[in-house]
Amino acid sequence: MSQPILEVCDLCRSFGGLKAVHNLNFAVEPQTIHGLIGPNGAGKTTTFNVISGFYAPSSGKVVYQGRDVSGMKTSKLAEIGLIRTFQGTTLFQEFSVIDNVRIGCHNSARSGFFSRITGMDRAVETAALDKAHELLAFFGLSEIANEPAASLPHGHQRALGMAVALAADPKIILLDEPFTGMNPDETARMMELVRDVRRRGITVMLVEHDMKAVMGLCDVITVMNFGSRLVEGTPDAVRNDPKVIEAYLGRAIDAA
Ligand SMILES: Nc1ncnc2c1ncn2[C@@H]1O[C@H](COP(=O)(O)OP(=O)(O)OP(=O)(O)O)[C@@H](O)[C@H]1O
Ligand SMILES: [Mg+2]
Repeated sequence: MSQPILEVCDLCRSFGGLKAVHNLNFAVEPQTIHGLIGPNGAGKTTTFNVISGFYAPSSGKVVYQGRDVSGMKTSKLAEIGLIRTFQGTTLFQEFSVIDNVRIGCHNSARSGFFSRITGMDRAVETAALDKAHELLAFFGLSEIANEPAASLPHGHQRALGMAVALAADPKIILLDEPFTGMNPDETARMMELVRDVRRRGITVMLVEHDMKAVMGLCDVITVMNFGSRLVEGTPDAVRNDPKVIEAYLGRAIDAA
């Protein structure tokens, strides 16, 4: 087996007396789609927050490409290829679709953000624009490149959010509930986009409650409960595990 691209080792994160993440262990293999599921409050978002540098771990380690990155800043992690998206959209609503992606490219180009948006560095500017157009084509957004982001339907806004994340040239992308609020068509399209992202050689880690999407996409699923790993395995193994059914899926299926 290859070296995992991402590992958490005995990871803990407390808030006051509450152990939101407690002795959590898992490893993500390169170029897989790896799911992180579990009941509300299990600690999934906190885990993403610690991995991506928004919170420092209380104890334990986050290892990325063999290197201990525990407590490293979000901006530094983004520079070395670990990108996290948020639930909901974080677009510049009044900017056009293409400009949102072009600005996203600033992380992977050499010159600064300021020179990029003021057009001071023409060569870099042209390269960013080419890359932004390529990403829009990849996500099927070329025809609406000049529309303001605010005018897009929900599914397109989410696709644009992914295009912006990809503009930073990630090696691994952490998606927190990318399917929330989507209709079935948007969900199907987003599933294809996530597969396309993996085909580009990017590892995907996914927190999601939409079981159809999770089971249909993931190679491996880690199930969390009370801050720890309950079970890990293939979608089929997880789906049929009595511990998972009791802690989570029974309820998730009842709710569906
Ligand atoms: N900043 C914080 N301060 C205090 N408690 C927090 C904070 N963030 C999370 N928690 C608590 O930690 C626990 C885990 O929360 P977390 O958001 O990680 O769960 P989750 O698995 O993402 O749940 P959901 O599926 O509902 O999104 C919860 O009890 C939550 O209230
Ligand atoms: Mg959450």
